[in-house]
Amino acid sequence: MKKKKILIIDDEQSLLESLEMFLSEKGYDVCCALSAAEGIKKNASFGPDIVILDIRLPDKNGLDVLQELRQRHNEKNIIIITAFHDMETTITAMKLGACEYIPKPIDIEELEKAIDRALKVGSLKRSADAISLDPSSMYEKGKIIGKSRAMKEIFKSIGLLSENTVTVLIEGETGTGKELIARAIHYHSPYKDQPLLAINCSAIVATLLESELFGHEKGSFTGAIASKKGKFELAGDGTIFLDEVSEIPFELQAKLLRFLQEKEFEHVGGERNLKSNARVIAATNKDLKEMVKNGSFREDLYYRLSVATIDVPPLRERRSDIPLLIEYIIRKINAELHRSIKKVEEKAVHRLMNYDWPGNVRELENILTRAAITTQGEVILDEFISPLLGREDKSTVERDTPDIVSLQEIEKEHILKVLSHARWHLGNSCKLLGISRPTLRQKLKEYGISVHPYAP
Ligand SMILES: Nc1ncnc2c1ncn2[C@@H]1O[C@H](COP(=O)(O)OP(=O)(O)OP(=O)(O)O)[C@@H](O)[C@H]1O
Ligand SMILES: [Mg+2]
Repeated sequence: MKKKKILIIDDEQSLLESLEMFLSEKGYDVCCALSAAEGIKKNASFGPDIVILDIRLPDKNGLDVLQELRQRHNEKNIIIITAFHDMETTITAMKLGACEYIPKPIDIEELEKAIDRALKVGSLKRSADAISLDPSSMYEKGKIIGKSRAMKEIFKSIGLLSENTVTVLIEGETGTGKELIARAIHYHSPYKDQPLLAINCSAIVATLLESELFGHEKGSFTGAIASKKGKFELAGDGTIFLDEVSEIPFELQAKLLRFLQEKEFEHVGGERNLKSNARVIAATNKDLKEMVKNGSFREDLYYRLSVATIDVPPLRERRSDIPLLIEYIIRKINAELHRSIKKVEEKAVHRLMNYDWPGNVRELENILTRAAITTQGEVILDEFISPLLGREDKSTVERDTPDIVSLQEIEKEHILKVLSHARWHLGNSCKLLGISRPTLRQKLKEYGISVHPYAP
């Protein structure tokens, strides 16, 4: 294999010598420069894979050199080493596109790791060992991503329910996309030009919640200095999204029930009967049936709310959606954080697909955003992801020590790799593995790999 080339630009002769010796011993082809001018020249002639750059150089500020190298060779992996690790310099260096920043005195292990990472990023940019983003696809806000059987059923429900105005109850764990679904129903309905007003029932104290929803008359409670319209009046023919509906206080549940039955209500402190055509979509991450059983939620209200229900399965039950979600979320990060991430290492994708996601899609967004902001590069590596996942990380891909493993371990790993490659399409995975579907199912069971029961 061709040796990887490293160019070191630093005015400290002794450091250059010791780094050169160390890195040459490690098998790199090393070239040194004592000044910015020499460094820029050697960069052009030597064509290094990585540049190690000092900030304080005799003829030029290293940050300017960094900028010049980045502009001329956009792809360059530049590791900054410096005794000036103050906040401003660090921030500027990272903004200018340094891939790593290492303070002096140099911890050689740290430098080695940084070099490994930078090289890996470089090689992944060219390899197929990663999820690549199709550069022609744009990020579309508010899109619901999914191609698992469960998500396809949800898309159908959204289509059907947006044609009428029945009350809908959306149930699912936190972060599964309930609000996104509620919005999609509204924006696909004939009333999409009317308001969609969301209210989180857990975020407001009981008395204010009643007034928020139904409005109040002047003087009806301390602080009610003028009369005020409630959400149901303001929504017109639009939609009211009642988030965390389980938290509506018991007393208020009767008033909501009446509205759902008769479309009528009064202001707090008022007597006039008011009407509203607003549609109600409610969401909950609690088990409302259980609450009905233990008497904390009215049974009649539960039945009124759940005329139509959408049950959003947790992410761990539709793992085949994870690669698509990763792509979508990376696009979102690129658009919103002005980044240009193009790939996610395959090992990281495995890890993300095997994690249990107690916080569902929101947690996946959070993890990817955190990984993205800790890297300057265009590739998200596994080592940016692994420390961010909690103890639920059931990943089988972690294997730092090259232990001798059993044939079964290798088979399991191979199956996971194929599944991930086939985006968890069981039919395609069977073809690739050359085994029948019952055999695959049997092996999945054996290895405790869970897939959605309706995976294609
Ligand atoms: N299928 C999906 N496709 C794209 N983005 C999604 C999907 N599901 C969820 N998200 C994103 O995940 C985040 C959480 O979604 P949302 O707020 O709709 O969840 P929720 O079920 O209402 O959560 P909570 O119960 O905590 O209120 C949002 O940023 C949303 O855009
Ligand atoms: Mg929500």
